[in-house]
Amino acid sequence: MKKYAVITGASSGIGAAFAKKLAKQGYALILIARRKARLDNLAKQLPTECEVVPADLADIDECKRIYKYIADKPVEIFINNAGIGDCGPFLVNSLDKEMQMIQLNICAVHFFTKRMLQKMQKADCGYVLNVASCAGLLPSGPYMATYYATKSYVASLTRAAAMELKECNSNVYIGCLCPGPVNTEFNHTANVTFSLKGISANTCAAYALKQMKKHKTVIIPNIRIKSMVFFGRFLPQSFLIRLVSKQQKKKIYS
Ligand SMILES: NC(=O)c1ccc[n+]([C@@H]2O[C@H](COP(=O)([O-])OP(=O)(O)OC[C@H]3O[C@@H](n4cnc5c(N)ncnc54)[C@H](OP(=O)(O)O)[C@@H]3O)[C@@H](O)[C@H]2O)c1
Repeated sequence: MKKYAVITGASSGIGAAFAKKLAKQGYALILIARRKARLDNLAKQLPTECEVVPADLADIDECKRIYKYIADKPVEIFINNAGIGDCGPFLVNSLDKEMQMIQLNICAVHFFTKRMLQKMQKADCGYVLNVASCAGLLPSGPYMATYYATKSYVASLTRAAAMELKECNSNVYIGCLCPGPVNTEFNHTANVTFSLKGISANTCAAYALKQMKKHKTVIIPNIRIKSMVFFGRFLPQSFLIRLVSKQQKKKIYS
């Protein structure tokens, strides 16, 4: 039987890299983002059946429409990847952009996580991978405050749902991908320049899919970020927040 993988934010970066990897593994793909031309172009290059479904996921009615479209399909993998960021002082940053970010990074992810887990639980199989960020594993992120807060939400929700699934011996997987810098269009839309060297979207997606199949709940595809998160646990939170603040300021004022 045909098995589907659904990828949100597939028109560029990590989402497009996921599409390329999963196409090679034989999944039929449902590719979602706003830029239809980009999705069509990607679909043409992939060696598998692709359905392009343009949608603005910052609109909850669009999320509901997408879910209706996939509800009866045998979706094995759902990747909540679409996301945006914004860098700058909280008092200055655009409230409109922040509200859009909250709709996309939190509400859409929450909606699809709930609906997909409910659907997969009925069949007792399937994978939900939420793309958070290493930002979501830190206590907070001055000068990128809303983005860090949205990704903390994603990481927290994912870990809680993963524990509940384990406690009822479910075969359904949920995990979160928490990368550090990845070289994509994110920098441009979030108005940042990385202060650390980024990894490629392909490396990030390949690592994430391997760890997902091993049922790892928190996936960090970069050794430096992994050790930063590990040692961060032993530091006072106020110190860590000051450190992040310094790092973030470098991104906007360099
Ligand atoms: N790059 C990094 O350093 C990094 C690090 C940690 C986590 N992440 C996370 O990784 C995920 C993917 O980002 P990326 O780095 O691959 O950046 P990207 O190249 O900018 O990709 C973002 C994707 O999200 C889609 N998107 C944005 N707004 C949307 C909306 N309203 N509705 C539907 N789709 C929307 C974009 O497509 P359209 O514009 O065509 O809609 C695009 O396909 C994000 O959740 C991001 O927070 C990135």
